[in-house]
Amino acid sequence: MTGFSSDWLKLREGADHRSRNNGLAEALSARLALREMVRVTDIGCGTGSNLRGTADLLPDKQSWTLVDYDAGLLGSARVELAAWADAAHDAGDQLSLERGRKRISVSFRQADLSADLDAALGETCDLVTAAAFFDLASEAFIQRFAKAVAARRAVFYTVLTYNGISRWQPHHPADNAVASAFHRHQLSDKGFGAAAGPMAPIHLADQFQFAEYSVQEGESPWELGRGDQALMDEVQAGHAMAIAEIGGVDAATLKSWVSRRLSGVYIGHTDTLAMPL
Ligand SMILES: C[S@@+](CC[C@H](N)C(=O)[O-])C[C@H]1O[C@@H](n2cnc3c(N)ncnc32)[C@H](O)[C@@H]1O
Repeated sequence: MTGFSSDWLKLREGADHRSRNNGLAEALSARLALREMVRVTDIGCGTGSNLRGTADLLPDKQSWTLVDYDAGLLGSARVELAAWADAAHDAGDQLSLERGRKRISVSFRQADLSADLDAALGETCDLVTAAAFFDLASEAFIQRFAKAVAARRAVFYTVLTYNGISRWQPHHPADNAVASAFHRHQLSDKGFGAAAGPMAPIHLADQFQFAEYSVQEGESPWELGRGDQALMDEVQAGHAMAIAEIGGVDAATLKSWVSRRLSGVYIGHTDTLAMPL
C-alpha cells in the first residue's frame, strides 16, 4: 500500500479544489446537465474530497460509489462527508446526504483497483472519476482502465494528475537535481507495476482516444504562496523523503534544499475529461 494519511489529504483539499480547471468542469457539467440523476464511481477516493469538489457540477440527484483499498480512509470519508453535508442519514451500507439542493446517496466499496478493476467499477455507472490518483497507476493499468470505462459507455473525468512541472521560490541550485530524482521516484511501483508518474496524463489521453472517446485536457496547477505555508512545507518534506529513498542527491545537498524556507511553489497538474462519441 502507498499509505496516504487523512491529515495529508485534508491539508491539500483547499488547494486541490481551487486549482481544478474551470473549463473542463463546465464541460462535464454541460454533458450531464439533462440527466435526472447520475451514478458516479470515484476511484482512489481517500476521504471523499473529489465528491466534495464535484457534486456542485452534477444534477441534483446523485448516487456515488466511493472506492479505495484503505479501510481507514473509507471510514474517514464517511465522517467527513457527513460533516460537510447540511444533513446526513447513515443507514450502514448507505449514507444519504443533503447539501443545498443536492440529494446524494453514497456507498463505500473497499477494493484493490490493481487486482479487481471490474468489481471495483461495478456493472453500470454514468461517470467514473478520480482525483490525484493516476500518476500512481501504470501505463498497463491505464490501458485496462480505459477499456473498462468504455465498456460501460461512461464519461471519465479526472483532476490533479501530476504532469512533471515543479518550480520553487526562492530558487535553489539543487532544484533541477531534485526534480530529476523525484521523477525517478514517481516512476517506481506504487502497487500497479512501474508507475506512469508525470506521463499519466498522456497515457490517459491516448487510451481514451483509442477507445473512441473525445478527450479534453486542462491545466490545474497548484500555485501556492502566502497562506499555504503548511502545504508548501509538507510538499518540500515529501520531496525530500522520496529523494532520500531513491537516491541521486547527496545528503548535505538535500539537507540544504529542504531547509530553505519557501515563499512559493508551483506544481503542475492536468485534468482530463473523456466522453463517448
Ligand atoms: C493521493 S490519494 C488521493 C485521494 C483522493 N482522491 C483525494 O483527492 O484526496 C490516492 C488514493 O488512492 C488510493 N489507492 C492507491 N492505490 C490504490 C489501489 N490499488 N486500489 C484502491 N485504492 C488505491 C489511496 O488509498 C489514496 O486514497
